[in-house]
Amino acid sequence: MSLSLRPARRDDAALILAFVRELADYEKLRHEVEAELADIERDLFGSNPRVFCDIAEWDGAPAGFALWFYNYSTFRGRHGIFLEDIFVRPAFRSRGIATALMRALAQRCVTEKLGRFEWNVLDWNAPAIRFYRSVGAIPLDAWTTQRVDGEALERLAAG
Ligand SMILES: CC(C)(COP(=O)(O)OP(=O)(O)OC[C@H]1O[C@@H](n2cnc3c(N)ncnc32)[C@H](O)[C@@H]1OP(=O)(O)O)[C@@H](O)C(=O)NCCC(=O)NCCS
Repeated sequence: MSLSLRPARRDDAALILAFVRELADYEKLRHEVEAELADIERDLFGSNPRVFCDIAEWDGAPAGFALWFYNYSTFRGRHGIFLEDIFVRPAFRSRGIATALMRALAQRCVTEKLGRFEWNVLDWNAPAIRFYRSVGAIPLDAWTTQRVDGEALERLAAG
């Protein structure tokens, strides 16, 4: 039994989209997934990509993924990593796969002298929150995520 991590390749685009949809199903947010194959291909595998993906394989079978990008902290004066998605297929859970994906990103933070490694989690997702505690993450209770999209975004843009 062996685990391997590797950067995603262009021919993983359909797999990545499948992982995104499986994660959205778990989060009961499948209706919000608008991304199509062409979006993944363009943004992860076009010229000068700004979003990245690591694939975890267990004995060669696709088991999970982490999708991330660089953000920036003016307080730290350094870039950081924002983890957009992490997901391990149910059949492969509790084998340390997510821990390995997180460790690889933590190692990137250390190697690249990045200031922070952070992400959002839904407040009802107790198993994931327990997992995050196990890797040393602490919740930022004073902060909430704010978003403008859809018609509100159009209105703001129109002035
Ligand atoms: C959360 C998730 C990524 C963890 O993946 P995983 O590969 O099973 O995690 P690991 O095996 O590395 O877990 C390490 C430790 O975290 C804790 N942990 C992980 N999953 C857990 C769970 N479902 N319940 C309780 N503790 C859990 C345990 O301490 C675990 O060690 P153990 O299984 O040896 O006891 C996976 O359960 C998942 O994909 N969940 C659905 C999607 C999701 O919630 N993603 C995060 C969205 S923010």
